[in-house]
Amino acid sequence: IASSAFARTEEKLTNIAHRGASAYAPENTMAAFHQALEMNADYIELDVQQSKDGVLVIMHDRTVDRTTNGSGRVRELTYAELQRLDAGSWKEDSFANEKIPTLSQVLDEFQGKIGILIELKAPELYPGIEKKVAIEINKRKLDHVIIQSFNVSSMKKMHELLPNVPIGILTSSQRDTNPNSIQQFAAFATYFNPSYDILTPALIHQVHSAGMKISPWSGTKRLPASFLWKTKSDGVITNYPDEVNWVQTST
Ligand code: G3P
Ligand code: CA
Repeated sequence: IASSAFARTEEKLTNIAHRGASAYAPENTMAAFHQALEMNADYIELDVQQSKDGVLVIMHDRTVDRTTNGSGRVRELTYAELQRLDAGSWKEDSFANEKIPTLSQVLDEFQGKIGILIELKAPELYPGIEKKVAIEINKRKLDHVIIQSFNVSSMKKMHELLPNVPIGILTSSQRDTNPNSIQQFAAFATYFNPSYDILTPALIHQVHSAGMKISPWSGTKRLPASFLWKTKSDGVITNYPDEVNWVQTST
């Protein structure tokens, strides 16, 4: 199905649903990703980790404790064990049937419908995860996919494996905003995605001057999308994708 999301122009703030439309549905589940699609987001953002037996799964925390009815580290649970967990009830009873999705399931379900921003979460815990992600991407014809991480060396590796897939560097650290760091990131990255806490108009200018794009994020807080729009951010990574389009047309 051709999506109207891809018909948007460069002048528009790219609307990226953080862990799906996670303000309204349990983060990193199919329900949250479908909700983002319904809300006309341009991309879904998701966090990839790996089960004990090597399956790429979508989960933000290193443990399953907060967002499922189970406990333990993602990397110490098998895929079968992860599949038995309820990943929705913690948010609301009506989501009790939500399971932890795999990367492969999400790519199959959403390719061609919405862009996919894949974060490698703590890739240092999963040696070789970059190659496994590259295999999943190469299996499919994906037009709108971006890979990002806080782990810089992992992203350099990812760029070598998939030179045609845009790479993003995530940071919440002021240290990464010095001109040398920005130049180093620009050698292989297309996006520099900082926490909203360290965002300034000067940083946006600096990132653009280095030839990269910038899509700030703010965790659970609402981002003032009108500010981002006026200060020329390229995108916004938000739990409230329904608010972004409204802000742009009303300011
Ligand atoms: O996409 C940006 C954001 O996801 C980074 O922080 O902790 O939500 O993965 P976190
Ligand atoms: Ca993330």
